[in-house]
Amino acid sequence: MSFTREAPLPGASFGAALRFDGGAGEIVAAAERDAKALPAALAEAKGLLLIQGMGAIADDPDLLIHLSRVFGPEVEDYHHTLTDPKSVHVSVPEILLVSNMPPVGKAPPKRPEPPLAADGLIPVQYPHRKGWHTDQSYRRPPPDISLFYAVTPAARDTGQTLFANGILAYEALPAALKAKVDKLEGLHAQPGSGRSRAAALAGTMPRAFAAHERSQRQPVVRTHPVTGERTLYLCEWGQMDWFEGPFVDMEPGPHGAGAVLLDEVMAHLTERRFCYAHEWTQGDLLIWDNRCLVHAATWFDGDSEGRLMWRTTVHGNPGAYYAGEKKSWIPVAAR
Ligand SMILES: [Fe+2]
Repeated sequence: MSFTREAPLPGASFGAALRFDGGAGEIVAAAERDAKALPAALAEAKGLLLIQGMGAIADDPDLLIHLSRVFGPEVEDYHHTLTDPKSVHVSVPEILLVSNMPPVGKAPPKRPEPPLAADGLIPVQYPHRKGWHTDQSYRRPPPDISLFYAVTPAARDTGQTLFANGILAYEALPAALKAKVDKLEGLHAQPGSGRSRAAALAGTMPRAFAAHERSQRQPVVRTHPVTGERTLYLCEWGQMDWFEGPFVDMEPGPHGAGAVLLDEVMAHLTERRFCYAHEWTQGDLLIWDNRCLVHAATWFDGDSEGRLMWRTTVHGNPGAYYAGEKKSWIPVAAR
């Protein structure tokens, strides 16, 4: 497979932009013929690839599914995973719609306050920036790769997607913090399930969960199943369980020892030196590795513009830690 590689991505110390001759159809066909090339490029780039000029996907969404299958054995069918049907593409159930427009109607995140960081750039560091997460970490086994395609991105300088690299952050973690997190497990909750830090601070008791909805333990430090690298794997306000967590066997709740440690680790993971901010252009495709990156959405003017992004999620290689596990999110009767 022939492409040129520009790495790292601008302003970051990881990621790569791949440049091809030809459009999305030719790129996907070449990726299928040489099925190891793009996964290898993803690993080499420490988990983030950008391919631009993929505009043909908007007219032929199956191209996105074909490309997703190159990255793993199972591309999620959102009709099978209790996803709100309004957020699923009408004819391609492997595509999740991320949009502020009907029928999805998901509002963009709030602007951080203040709107810029002290260095004059878009804020990335937690807790100034909130919303950092890795996709579906509230499931076991968690997914591997997400593909995110800009059908209609937000206006320039808004609606960016931010990434922080857990491999680089783990390497640079102070020894005392490494010792604290190496054997620790986080307790991850589905956003909107009522177990967020905000809900815990408000004292709103969450409803009882069926077994398949329960918060899931995940190691805070994972061994990447492809590269063998150690990487941080953690979320924050909305995607951890703040009633029983955020960590297993640590003082729980928003004021406990677990909260103090989470704030310290997330602030480290999202330091500018480990981050990349992607400014979207129509036809951009980002491919990221959820096993070693966290990401966050940013504000755009949802009152005056409509943004539409398509996402697919690839499963199948979570690593030996999860060997033989049944999918936590599928009710036992339906397995
Ligand atoms: Fe996400």
